[in-house]
Amino acid sequence: MHAKCALITGVTGQDGAYLASFLLERGYEVHGLLRRSASADVVDARLKWLGIAGKITLHDGNLTDLSSLIRVLGEVRPAEVYNLAAQSFVKSSWQQPLLTGAVTGMGAVNVLEAVRIAYPEARFYQASSSEMFGLIQEPIQSEKTPFYPRSPYAAAKLYAHWMTVNYRESFGLHASSGILFNHESPLRGIEFVTRKITDGVARIKLGLSETLALGNLDAKRDWGHARDYVKAMWLMLQQDEPDDYVVATGRTTSVWEFCELAFGHAGLRMEDHVVVDERLLRPAEVDVLHGNPAKAKEKLGWAAETSLEALAAEMVEVDLERQKRHEHL
Ligand code: NAP
Ligand code: GDD
Repeated sequence: MHAKCALITGVTGQDGAYLASFLLERGYEVHGLLRRSASADVVDARLKWLGIAGKITLHDGNLTDLSSLIRVLGEVRPAEVYNLAAQSFVKSSWQQPLLTGAVTGMGAVNVLEAVRIAYPEARFYQASSSEMFGLIQEPIQSEKTPFYPRSPYAAAKLYAHWMTVNYRESFGLHASSGILFNHESPLRGIEFVTRKITDGVARIKLGLSETLALGNLDAKRDWGHARDYVKAMWLMLQQDEPDDYVVATGRTTSVWEFCELAFGHAGLRMEDHVVVDERLLRPAEVDVLHGNPAKAKEKLGWAAETSLEALAAEMVEVDLERQKRHEHL
């Protein structure tokens, strides 16, 4: 039987790596878009960590170069396209608003255009974000909650989100959006708060540093495990009709509480080590995100499987091992 074929943009990122692994396990032929880097030796570190680097066909391309996307779509002719590539770090989006708009916003439209022009039979997934809820308009956010983006990143994601809806309605593309709440893992970028904390805990535990500087400890997020969340992406593309889905755990926790879990797992007290550095505060903050995943549960049969306690413990354990071996990711 001919394997199903998928193309992932952002395959070298956290979600791209877990999704590639998930699809390979299901017999897919997996292709990924790779942007050229002068550090080619480290760019596939996540794929290597999962032991799948040699199992994916990588194609040279960039979300800002429509010609490269049309070429790759035409060559691969994938049954499923997952658009995960983005400038995804919210704080950087104030320092690089134009790049964020070009990659996170217009880049998604480039992928939609490439699908429409080169292979409209493909099913399309857009990585939308709970950041689009921003200054929340309802205490618990669902697909029906109005958006209020609070950063250049969120505004760019909102544009990409509505363009996905528009291509579905205008051209009949099988285009779905997953409005994913924060999801973490040992493969999370070190700049995001959970990984910064678990890496900090490991360093402090091993005597490599004494303090960890953080910004807003009161911010609350609905944190799940990336491994669970890529399954929801795939389930969306297995539905007869394209649609939009909130993907979340339904539990919200503060940065402070996540610190307590991570430090506690290593037998440390966060109060002895965490310091607040005002330079890490954001020009406009998203104070709280709390998702309602009822639609994903009802229509996709999806539910988060990993507790926050288990997630924090896994991340601390992996970071302790990495620090002991002087490995970096
Ligand atoms: P990530 O780890 O930052 O990965 C981003 C990926 O995009 C990397 O593979 C990166 O390549 C690639 N990329 C960046 N600019 C590109 C360009 N111009 N052309 C081609 N590729 C480019 O992000 P993630 O956490 O896996 O998230 C995946 C997607 O879901 C993102 O769109 C993110 O905004 C969205 N999202 C994430 C979450 C979350 O909590 N993780 C929640 C909601 C939505 P390099 O490896 O070369 O940098
Ligand atoms: N990064 C970071 N570093 N965040 C900190 C720190 C710190 O030192 N101290 C406190 N925080 C707070 C931030 O102010 C924010 O309120 C919260 O921790 C989470 O920050 P991040 O982990 O950077 O994630 P994010 O919520 O801004 O964005 C992530 O989730 C979105 C989905 O809601 C990213 O993955 C986005 O790409 C994604 O769309």
